[in-house]
Amino acid sequence: MKPLIVANWKMNPNTLAEVREILSEVKAGIKDLKGVEIVICLPYIYLPYWPEFFRKNERKIRLGAQDCFWKEKGAYTGEISALMLKNLGCEYVILGHSERRKYFGETEEMINKKIKAALKVKLKPILCIGETVEAREQGKTFKILEEQLESAPKGILNSIIIAYEPVWAIGTGNPCGISEARKANLFIRKILSQSLNSLTPLLLYGGSVNSENAIFYIKEAGFSGLLVGGASIIPKEFIKIVKNLERA
Ligand code: PGA
Repeated sequence: MKPLIVANWKMNPNTLAEVREILSEVKAGIKDLKGVEIVICLPYIYLPYWPEFFRKNERKIRLGAQDCFWKEKGAYTGEISALMLKNLGCEYVILGHSERRKYFGETEEMINKKIKAALKVKLKPILCIGETVEAREQGKTFKILEEQLESAPKGILNSIIIAYEPVWAIGTGNPCGISEARKANLFIRKILSQSLNSLTPLLLYGGSVNSENAIFYIKEAGFSGLLVGGASIIPKEFIKIVKNLERA
């Protein structure tokens, strides 16, 4: 299976001109791409501009969003539904990102409703799980991962992508060591297959991924792909990550 690279642009950049610049450079840099799958998760307001860059039949890079609401439409000021995203051409949606849990109080219950709403319209959810620095220091990493996995809606784990993102590694420049990431990977796969009876074909790693470390999460830690934040809006760096993984 080809590695999957998901770019999470977060709340960047501030102008459409910059979006155009980044996407043009990325597009040119990965022209001959074969061995990897790429998804770019843009801020909502830039999603409608996607067809400027990638035509529908040009399947090299797919479009994703960074969140969605669980209702299809109605009086929910400021929210965006999964169906709206689908209608704009999105195929993926990141859900339960630690920044949403932390800054917007998202609970497992809210995340579960979002997962169901996404699946209903055939958007592929990328569910983020991972321990905080406190949990890690108290030796509770596996307990947290198990709780997060077990609270996901039953029977859907085969249809979603899971991203292991240790919270302490996100945006800190302090990536999870390869052997620690490998242990988490094995643990997640064990829980999924033993207690949840799921195969999880796709398990991503995210947290301070860069062009130096990217390959090791695939080759040595056994992940099927990466969720890349900061490095994904630096075209040269992102292209390097893609090319390194292509050679994997
Ligand atoms: P980072 O972000 O690569 O900047 O650490 C990853 C993420 O938040 O998904």
